[in-house]
Amino acid sequence: MERIIIEPNDFNSDLIKLWSKKWMLLTSGSYESADYNTMTVGWGSIGVMWNKPFVQVVVRPTRHTFKYMEKYDSFTLTAFPDKYNDKLKYLGTVSGKDENKINKSELTVISSKKISSPGFDEAELIIECKKIYWDDIRPKNFLDNKIDENYNANDYHRIYFGEILLIEGVIKYKK
Ligand SMILES: Cc1cc2nc3c(=O)[nH]c(=O)nc-3n(C[C@H](O)[C@H](O)[C@H](O)COP(=O)(O)O)c2cc1C
Repeated sequence: MERIIIEPNDFNSDLIKLWSKKWMLLTSGSYESADYNTMTVGWGSIGVMWNKPFVQVVVRPTRHTFKYMEKYDSFTLTAFPDKYNDKLKYLGTVSGKDENKINKSELTVISSKKISSPGFDEAELIIECKKIYWDDIRPKNFLDNKIDENYNANDYHRIYFGEILLIEGVIKYKK
């Protein structure tokens, strides 16, 4: 897909829907070494931290992608046209531990411009990020008891902040 480079200050998206309805793929690893994994994400944020444009993603330690997020210093977020929804459902249900799900999805893995973690050619939006911070969700800090209902297996997410190094997208993502 043809994409243009978008300056973070010109990035325009319905952000809540981007996470909650459209979803994205979170991919981490090395394109060169063919060592990477991807999973669908629906929780996270995009904004500004320490004067840098940044992305926050949350990954449960039980995910295969977690190993890549720990091993590598970067990740991409990619959003797709609606016709790829079934692929996002598949990549968000099956684990890379159990099958070669990227191959099976038939998405085309492509190298990134600034980081080792790859993106996908079919994406209408690619955000390249360098990890700058992590922390773990701490249940003792929940101010609403209902939040704990998300963690029946005590698999509290690890939070990663990624500095946005590059945004590429189709024109609708440009202000
Ligand atoms: C719509 C949707 C959103 C998801 N959001 C997240 C998320 O934000 N964090 C997370 O840890 N898992 C999330 N998941 C679950 C993972 O994508 C799923 O467990 C996936 O199979 C993990 O793959 P992996 O084991 O290959 O890493 C989501 C799944 C779906 C379908």
